[in-house]
Amino acid sequence: MKEEIKKAAIILNEGKVVAIPTETVYGLAANAFNDTAVRQIFEIKQRPSFNPLIVHIKSIDYLEKVSENIPAKAWLLAKKFWPGALTLVLPKKEIIPNIVTAGKDTVGVRVPSHPIALMLLEQLDFPLAAPSANPFGSISPTSAEHVQKQLGNKVPFILDGGNCEKGIESTIIGFENDAPILYRLGSIAIEEIENEIGPITIKNIEEQHPSAPGMIKRHYAPKTVTIVTKNINDAVHFYNGKRIGLLLFNSKNTDESIIHQEILSISGDLKEAASHLYAALHRLDALNLDVIIAEDFPENELGRSINDRLKRASELKNTKNILN
Ligand code: TXA
Ligand code: MG
Repeated sequence: MKEEIKKAAIILNEGKVVAIPTETVYGLAANAFNDTAVRQIFEIKQRPSFNPLIVHIKSIDYLEKVSENIPAKAWLLAKKFWPGALTLVLPKKEIIPNIVTAGKDTVGVRVPSHPIALMLLEQLDFPLAAPSANPFGSISPTSAEHVQKQLGNKVPFILDGGNCEKGIESTIIGFENDAPILYRLGSIAIEEIENEIGPITIKNIEEQHPSAPGMIKRHYAPKTVTIVTKNINDAVHFYNGKRIGLLLFNSKNTDESIIHQEILSISGDLKEAASHLYAALHRLDALNLDVIIAEDFPENELGRSINDRLKRASELKNTKNILN
């Protein structure tokens, strides 16, 4: 593994892109201080330039190199959750090029907890800008194979760090007049964050972009038509005769006409379910099904984050704009 990390470092030092493992999902990484390196991320991902990237730093001590005027509550959260799956949106310093932040005066920052990502960052004298390593709009990768399948021919090197432990992207928190705002549900439950800093306003930034009117929320999406429902049996009945795949929380369906079923956590553990979500969607999407029917999850802790992703996966396809 040491050799592979070294190889990744060499490629990144040359101003090229490497897919890296993190504890949430795989990232498509480049030198965050290097404009032309970062541009390749947008090209490979086919990502619109108005969508900012997350900057991955090696430790909390590095935070003031990339951002300033950091609110007290941001420090509390960084100390509590880093290294980990929390991204903080903070006022940016000049050293971060505009392409990284899509022209915004804030930057999204986090310290990943995946040991390989940390070892790699230790070897570099710059942070890594990295969005999830999937083509814009499709399902995020939680294994090196997922990256290989989706972007293998476009990325010079994929650093394999096994399956991602968390399996859903980081939770994103920003600040408006020092008040914390949730921009994206993610791997750390909002309840856990509120335990540290009190109530948080929820404002889903991925659903609102002033420069892209009419934008819809389809995102993290399989190619197969996907629906989310509380009543699996009714939906199965409705799609009678079709090739159906199911995505379920903790128990199997007895209908024998179903082609394939994915159970995310037999023991009913929401964290485990979250960690299996994207891998299950990738598998279902490869089966040439007519429809994926997903179960609506309990709307608490990571169930909320799972529902958020399922909702985005199920948005209708015939709309023009997609975010991410
Ligand atoms: O877990 C994760 O966060 C993964 C791993 C690779 O770290 N990364 C990830 O990146 O999910 P991406 O690009 O797929 O999602 C980043 C989100 C985008 O929706 C973007 O709008 C938001 O972060 N973001 C980044 N910088 C921001 C900023 N300055 N203001 C508001 N939102 C920002
Ligand atoms: Mg993404």
